[in-house]
Amino acid sequence: MIKRLNHLAIVVPDLAAATATYRDTLGAQVSEAQALAEHGVTVVFVDLPNTRIELLEPLGDGSPVSNFLLRNEGGGIHHMCVEVDDIKAARDELMDKGARILGDGEPKIGAHGNPVLFLHPKDFHGCLIELEEV
Ligand code: CO
Repeated sequence: MIKRLNHLAIVVPDLAAATATYRDTLGAQVSEAQALAEHGVTVVFVDLPNTRIELLEPLGDGSPVSNFLLRNEGGGIHHMCVEVDDIKAARDELMDKGARILGDGEPKIGAHGNPVLFLHPKDFHGCLIELEEV
């Protein structure tokens, strides 16, 4: 069902500092910061040869990643995103197997313009998994 690793998402308290670490210390290719108001985050994409890392900083009130920073002051890995061919078929199969989908179970348009869903971390050994239809 799951295919390529699309991205790893890391929530950070200071996006500029984190960007500098990936660019200067680790020597990675990083994008300009993009404010995604509808997703409540500002994001920097770190491009690696085989995948991408997204550095996320909360944007505005009620950001979906604010609580994560309260629990993880210095930041940390928030979720991983894996690709699927057909997100609704994947969702139905996972629900048949007893896995829980976050929210109302309907795919939303994610930060890359593709439909996404999040799976309950308690059903996946503590890892928040994002499915993205690519
Ligand atoms: Co993501």
